[in-house]
Amino acid sequence: MEILRTDPDHALWAEYAAHLRHTNQARWVLGDDDQPTEPFWFLGAAEDGQVVGNLALKEQGISMPATEWSGGVDKPLLDAEGVPVRETFVMTFFVEAPHRRRGIGRALQEAAVAWTRERGCLQMRSWSSLDRPENYAMKLSMGFAMHPSVHDAAGGFQVSGVYFVKRVDREVSESRHPGA
Ligand SMILES: CC(C)(COP(=O)(O)OP(=O)(O)OC[C@H]1O[C@@H](n2cnc3c(N)ncnc32)[C@H](O)[C@@H]1OP(=O)(O)O)[C@@H](O)C(=O)NCCC(=O)NCCS
Repeated sequence: MEILRTDPDHALWAEYAAHLRHTNQARWVLGDDDQPTEPFWFLGAAEDGQVVGNLALKEQGISMPATEWSGGVDKPLLDAEGVPVRETFVMTFFVEAPHRRRGIGRALQEAAVAWTRERGCLQMRSWSSLDRPENYAMKLSMGFAMHPSVHDAAGGFQVSGVYFVKRVDREVSESRHPGA
């Protein structure tokens, strides 16, 4: 099994796009022409030239959402030097059923964390509805933090679930307040 970074110029793109379609993941990242609708980062799991798993990331700034109280504008999160803080958000994540429980999902997550770190982002985030027990078990075993939440889907439909967050930058090894 090989974890690969892919894009529309990659030799396996047509295979990758077909895999996204038959796993019902294409709707989140591809247009009808099988081209990305935004500049996402695409990871695939391949076995014998066949794509059997995917994980797509969106890179974005972290902002506090607009409210009337915030003056109707999003407020970007800045670090101590005033630099906007960034994250990746998982758009798709799926391993084909016959290939599950062999470490492919974990390998895709680890590759996504590595790519997020390489991009200089603070964290990797995702949202998952409560009918995904395998994903919940994986995220717990990998040390993700969990924030229960409700997703407002199209048509006013609400879905119960969890935001998962993994901080990927270097840990601060010493307390800023020794003796505190
Ligand atoms: C979630 C998913 C991607 C996991 O892929 P996978 O390749 O089977 O995962 P792995 O083999 O790497 O498993 C990693 C860990 O996840 C947990 N896990 C995965 N499947 C599990 C199951 N059926 N029961 C309990 N724990 C499970 C375990 O902790 C496992 O570690 P272990 O095998 O050492 O015990 C896969 O089940 C899937 O595609 N599900 C449908 C789509 C989905 O839920 N996507 C994510 C949310 S939108």
